[in-house]
This record gives sequence, structure tokens and C-alpha cells, in this order.
Amino acid sequence: MGFGRALLSGLALRLTFILLAMTAIGMAVMGLYVTRALEAPLMEYLTASMVRDARLIHDAVLPYVAQGTPIGAVQELTQKYGAMLDTDARVTVIGVDGTVLGDSGRELSEVRRMANQGDWPEVRAALAGGVATQLRRGQHRHGEMLYVAIPLAETTQIKGVLRLAIPLTAVHKAATSVHQTVALGALLAFAVVLAVGLFLSRRVTRPVTEMQAIARWMAEGDFAQRVPISGTDEVAELGRTLNLMAERLSEKIQDLEGERAKVAAILDSMVEGVIAIDQRGRILLVNHAGRSIFDLGREPVEGRPLLEIVRHKAILDLVAGGQHRDVEGTRRREIELGPPVDRILDAQASALALAPSGYGTLLVLHDVTELRRLERVRTEFVANVSHELRTPLTSIRGYLETLLDGALEEPANARRFLEIAHTHAERLSRLVDDLLQLSDIETGKLVLKPARLRLHEVAADVIAFFEKQAAQKSLTLLNHVPVDLRVQADWDRLTQILVNLVDNAVKYTPGQGQITLGAVPGAHGFVKVWVADTGIGIPSTDLPRITERFYRVDKARSRELGGTGLGLAIVKHLVQAHAGELWLESELGKGTTVNFSLPEA
Ligand SMILES: Nc1ncnc2c1ncn2[C@@H]1O[C@H](COP(=O)(O)OP(=O)(O)O)[C@@H](O)[C@H]1O
Ligand SMILES: [Mg+2]
Repeated sequence: MGFGRALLSGLALRLTFILLAMTAIGMAVMGLYVTRALEAPLMEYLTASMVRDARLIHDAVLPYVAQGTPIGAVQELTQKYGAMLDTDARVTVIGVDGTVLGDSGRELSEVRRMANQGDWPEVRAALAGGVATQLRRGQHRHGEMLYVAIPLAETTQIKGVLRLAIPLTAVHKAATSVHQTVALGALLAFAVVLAVGLFLSRRVTRPVTEMQAIARWMAEGDFAQRVPISGTDEVAELGRTLNLMAERLSEKIQDLEGERAKVAAILDSMVEGVIAIDQRGRILLVNHAGRSIFDLGREPVEGRPLLEIVRHKAILDLVAGGQHRDVEGTRRREIELGPPVDRILDAQASALALAPSGYGTLLVLHDVTELRRLERVRTEFVANVSHELRTPLTSIRGYLETLLDGALEEPANARRFLEIAHTHAERLSRLVDDLLQLSDIETGKLVLKPARLRLHEVAADVIAFFEKQAAQKSLTLLNHVPVDLRVQADWDRLTQILVNLVDNAVKYTPGQGQITLGAVPGAHGFVKVWVADTGIGIPSTDLPRITERFYRVDKARSRELGGTGLGLAIVKHLVQAHAGELWLESELGKGTTVNFSLPEA
């Protein structure tokens, strides 16, 4: 936890500052008041003590002045008393006419030359009979002076003026010491306030700082933190509210995330590709299927323009038409995507209401490639069947017409024509049989009766069946199937598979060739079975399609040999019905090996 990362938060600092400022103002006001309040009594005290001093000197000086003693004697007197006064006061004696008779601050020679002072306010006031005090700048270097003058008088007759003067520096000195004391007090108070202020403001603001940190964590998505709460004041209440908010928020976010995960899971498990686009043509969302259609892998595409991801004009056109507010219905179009993978998509664009700013587009892409392929296969199949049926039918009709037209009367021809018609009729019925069988397998009508079979025995039976035919072409039939190998299969269907394969091998292998039936136990509980020949082989270009219905390398030759082109298709279906697989290997002119797998028993 990072509480109090800084020694003091901004708030605490501000609080401390306010406290200090308030203290400073208080101290200043108090200092000013104290100084002012002290200054007046100080002056009063000074003045009073000077008046007292003057009175004390008065009686000693008066006789001299009254008798008109020469200046020298008065001067001596003033100097004597001036030295006696502990206030550093300057004692001046002035005659009734204003001449200075003595001055403790001067030499005698100076006194003689001093100007008449009868006009000084304090002198004048004293001559008028009063006790005068005056505060003014003196003539000398002392700066401001306090003057106290009293009349030198016997009863009511005024003989002169006795004046005491002290430089105010003395007063100031006293005031300064008061100032200093006050300032020191203020400084002390300041220090105490600073210490207490820092401590208190930290205490007061700490919960706020903590809450701030937690609010920041919440903003970053961490709702696990809680404010430690103590007390019941507003700050504690705020903390409690914050904790509650964090709880509610994290619940809401969990809910939302759960919903989002559900929606994402649903979207991703959809077969259809879904792409949501905002009003500016930027991708909001692509589901799993959508990604695989456009081969996007795990690349993040959200927020990128659709144009960058999908480069098919037809799709872009469809989307471009769907971004108008008033478009209500869905637009649909079948779109063919070219290489690398050829696909046919059923694309559907509908308006996507994106509150509050407008409408985007929801693109739903259904891959109908397989559907269309199956449709094509079906129509091709119908065409193929019709074509295959027409050939023998045309022949039969032709020979029957020839017979009816008179050939019936010619016994030699009649028999031959009938035999040919019979062959074609047989072919026709083989064809219909094969078709029915295929349809039975495809519609699930075929029911297997699997049993534990000795594959060697089944192969031996099939070989025996073809012995005569093989002998005619001098073909060697070999049974290389291990004697003890057993498979889980339907006897009839397994025989049918092998008969079809050996039939092909016999048909497409020229004289002196060799046909081998073999088997070996393979992986995953399956047995690999094969029928190999040394025949003409199948061109590699035809190999991938050779198991399709009616697909033959050489139609005419197949027909001539009595084939229908359905044999391998039936074999494939039968093998698949046994949960096995069929695959061919062939080299033109060297031979063919047809492999299939069957469950081992
Ligand atoms: N063992 C083989 N050797 C060469 N070509 C083969 C072999 N088996 C099948 N084929 C080719 O595959 C085609 C399809 O075989 P199939 O479905 O059995 O039809 P059919 O035997 O009636 O012609 C044959 O027409 C032939 O061209
Ligand atoms: Mg065949």
C-alpha cells in the first residue's frame, strides 16, 4: 500500500500553511497591539520621572538664577546635576529672556554662543508657568528628543526655565526590547504551531490520502482494496461509502464480464461468421467463424476499418448499403470468395442499433460452399444416371425395333439381336441394382450385422469366386492375409467390398498379372487391408475423384467390361459404414493398390 508516498499531501500542506498564516496574522496583530499599548505608558513613565528629576534639581538651581549668578556657575551646576541623573538626561537652564544659562550637554564656551531659546514651545510654555513636555527633533545628533521644561519660580515669580532632555533612543531601546520579546514569543508560537499543525493536518488528511489512493486503484480496475475506517465523522462516512461503492462496482463489473463472456462464447460457437461494424466502418467484433473465413488468425482487428480486413467488393458494397439509419430490413446476397480458398458465402447485412450515436451494421456470413457443392453433385448425379440409363435403353429399343421391322423372320439374326438386347437389359438391371444399393447405404437403410470374421477365410472365398476368370487371363491370385487375423465386419458387405475390388483388379490387369490380397494390424485397433494388382494403373489426376459415382478413367472401356462406374463408390460407402477409411495408391502402367481399414476384432 502506498499511503503517504509524499511526506505531506497537498491538502496537509495547505492546512498547515493556513494554520501558520493565521498564527502569523494573530501574532502580528498582538505584537502591534502590545507595542502600542506599552509605548504610551513608557512615555508617561519617562516623562513623569523626568518631571520628578526636574523638580528635585529645581530648588538647587533656583537661587542661582534668581540672584543672577554668572553663567559659569550655572553651567557648573547643570553639569553636576546632569552627571547625577541616571537617565542620561541633558540639563539646560534658560533665563526668562530665553538665553541659555547652562547646559550639561555643552562646554561653557559653547553655552555662551548658544542661540536664544525663548521661542521653543516647551520653553515658552514653562515661562507661562506650566510644566511642558515636548517631543521633537533636537538640534543635535541625537535625533528625536523628549523635552520636559518646568518654570524656575519663587512663588509666582518666574525667574527662568529648567529643562531636561533625553534622546528618544532610550525610549526606543526600551521599546525594542519589548519588540524583541514579542517577536521571540511569536517565533516560539510559530514553531509550536508548525509542529502541531504538521502533526494534526497529517492526521486529519491521512484518511483522505488513503481514499484518494484507493479511488485511483479503483479507476485502474482494482476493486480489492478497502479504506481502513475508524471513527464516525464525515471522513469515515466517506470511506465507508467508498468501500460500498467499490463492492457494488466490482459486483457490477463481474456481472458484466460474465455476460460478456457468455455472449462471446455463444458468438464463438456459432457456425456463422459474425462481424459487427460501427457507423464509421470500423470493426467492433468478429467471432471465431468470421476470423476463420477471412483467415485472420489471432490478429487483433477490433477498431480497424473493415476495408483493411475484408477486401471483397461485394461484401463491402453490402455493408455500405446497410449503414443508413432508415434501413430496416436485412439485405442478403450470395458472395463467392476467390482463391486461396474458394468459398460461397450467404452474406446477410442488417442495421445494428448502436446507442446513442446511430447505426452500424451486423454482417452474418453463412458458409454455403458445401451446400452448393452437394446441390451440384445431386444435379450432376441425376444427369449422370439419366445418361447411364439411356445408353442401354436406346440399344434395347433399337434392337427390338429392328426385330419388329422384320429381323424376327431371320432366325440367325433374331437370336443374336435378342442376346444383345438381353446383355443391355442385364447391364440396366446391374445399374439399377447398384443405384438402389447406393441409395440404401446413403439413406441409412443398410443394416450391418458385424461379427468376428477370419479375414483370411473371406479373402479365400472371394479368390475362389474369381478363379475361373483369372485363369482365363492367366492372372495369379494370392491370399497374403495372415491366417489368425480377425476383423469386426458384416460378412456379406465385406465379401461385397472384396468382390468389387478384385473384380476391378481382374478387369484392369492385363494377362500374366498378379493380384494380391493382404492385411496387417495397424494403429488404433484397425486392420489395414489391401488389394494390389500389377495392372494399368490410374492417372494421378483422376485418383482424387475415382471414388465418385460414375467417375471412370475410360468410360467406354469400363462399359465394355460391364462396369457401371459405381463399384468404388459403393466400396467407399461400405467401408465408411464399418467406421473405416478407403485410400488408393496407383502408378500408371505399374499397378494399383486399394487400401481400406476395418476394426480389428
Ligand atoms: N485396379 C484398378 N486398376 C486400374 N483402374 C482402376 C482399378 N480400379 C478401378 N479403376 C478405375 O476406376 C474406375 C471406377 O471403378 P469402379 O467404380 O469400380 O467402376 P467400374 O469398375 O464399373 O468401371 C474404373 O472405371 C477404372 O477406370
Ligand atoms: Mg468396378
